[in-house]
Amino acid sequence: MKVYEQIIIYIKDQIAAGALRHGDRAPSVRQLCDTLGTSKNSVIRAYQALESEGLINAYPRKGFIVSSTPHVDKPPSPRRVVLGATALDIIGPAQKAANVAFGSANPETAFKGRTAFYKQLSRLTRKELTSPATYTHYQSPPGNQLLRQQIARKTHSGLAELDPEEIIITNGAQEAISLALRSLTSTGDIVLVESPCFYGILQCIEALGLRVIELPSSANIGIQVEQLEQILQQWSVKVVLLNPQANNPLGFIMPEENQRKLLQLSYLHQFYIIEDDVFGSLIPTPQRKQTLKAMDTQGRVLLCSGLSKILDPDIRIGWIAAGVQFDQINYLKYVTTLATSGLLQQAAALWMASPDYDRHIRQIQNRYRQRKVVFAEVLRRVFPPEAEIIVPDAGFLCWISLPSGCSGDRIFDQAKSFQISITPGSLFGTEGQFRHCIRLNFSSFTQTDLQMNALLHLSKLLREEILRAQKNPD
Ligand SMILES: Cc1ncc(COP(=O)(O)O)c(C=O)c1O
Repeated sequence: MKVYEQIIIYIKDQIAAGALRHGDRAPSVRQLCDTLGTSKNSVIRAYQALESEGLINAYPRKGFIVSSTPHVDKPPSPRRVVLGATALDIIGPAQKAANVAFGSANPETAFKGRTAFYKQLSRLTRKELTSPATYTHYQSPPGNQLLRQQIARKTHSGLAELDPEEIIITNGAQEAISLALRSLTSTGDIVLVESPCFYGILQCIEALGLRVIELPSSANIGIQVEQLEQILQQWSVKVVLLNPQANNPLGFIMPEENQRKLLQLSYLHQFYIIEDDVFGSLIPTPQRKQTLKAMDTQGRVLLCSGLSKILDPDIRIGWIAAGVQFDQINYLKYVTTLATSGLLQQAAALWMASPDYDRHIRQIQNRYRQRKVVFAEVLRRVFPPEAEIIVPDAGFLCWISLPSGCSGDRIFDQAKSFQISITPGSLFGTEGQFRHCIRLNFSSFTQTDLQMNALLHLSKLLREEILRAQKNPD
């Protein structure tokens, strides 16, 4: 066996034994040369091979970080989710108490496009007071026709439009996802998700009595389709629920080639895909980045999205392009919440139909792209070197992975007492896989003194936590 192959086995053994875990820094080239008495070239060759297997990733100024551990971890298998109302309990009060909010995934509010929306809403409200009232009656699903047309035209792909007739307006993407799961699954069915996964999805799976398979995703490409293929040989997966465009929390954009392979698997194994696209419009491309749904030729994808990340979460405008499930989901929407506010739907429709919308989308894409560069630069400067900073391809969320043994929950609690909100990584998995991580929202980051001091303070908390974990790992 060649020396570099022995090094590969050494590192894999370390991972298998749990000595190196997802997010840990692998030994530096020099450390490994010293430990194993090998040459630098052999170590570099071994690390290149491990990187191409997806086991480690090289980061400038950080070295090699263990990423997903697909070949040595025990294969993911279905399990019940037991999270309870953790996210509600943890995040709700923390967000309210925060002076500096890096926690919940709220967008920036200082956009002209947002003002244009509220002016539109206020015009409609005034009209409602002065003319015969329009919104006196219960609305019914599928919802406002103009809004459905605008969504079909503008939120799906630069190349083709959705059929407005398959769109149902919902109370946020969260309701869209819940309706899709209710329509496609029965108690005990298996839903496969990316891991880490937005906690709202895990909690929805829990509330519906479904089982989950959490497939490790890498910060570069998301899930590995080959690994999904292996799982499909073993388990009857009903739904694959992904957030492939500007993922929350990792920020990756799933490569188009992998999206196409995923679609082929769905045709072969007859599962449905729920595509959660809430951040998709933030991807800075001249034309709207194509969704998975846009590439689907056999009606296997249900697309869920909304205006929460591009406008305001409080207006609760979401939608689902339900395809063949339209009748079923339309009925479920009707028996669940009847309809979404007609006034807000009309304001959203007129706003999306105006030039304000296109200008707004370009502006938010550029703003978050610039903000990401500044935020990452500041974090690299102030955070301890052990903190792996995962800068998103798009969106406004940044994932920080600390060495194993660290507790994001502890950092969350300590930050809260200084009125700084962050999101603890533990919420993004069912087994505490991400308890050594935290998520930060930089949508409103403008380097104010308050924000800079908060980051310095957070950095202090991270350093203390890393030291604590070295002495006494959780
Ligand atoms: C990935 C993801 N999906 C869905 C949602 C829910 O979005 P909405 O506010 O449209 O219900 C969120 C909210 O943070 C999210 O991050």
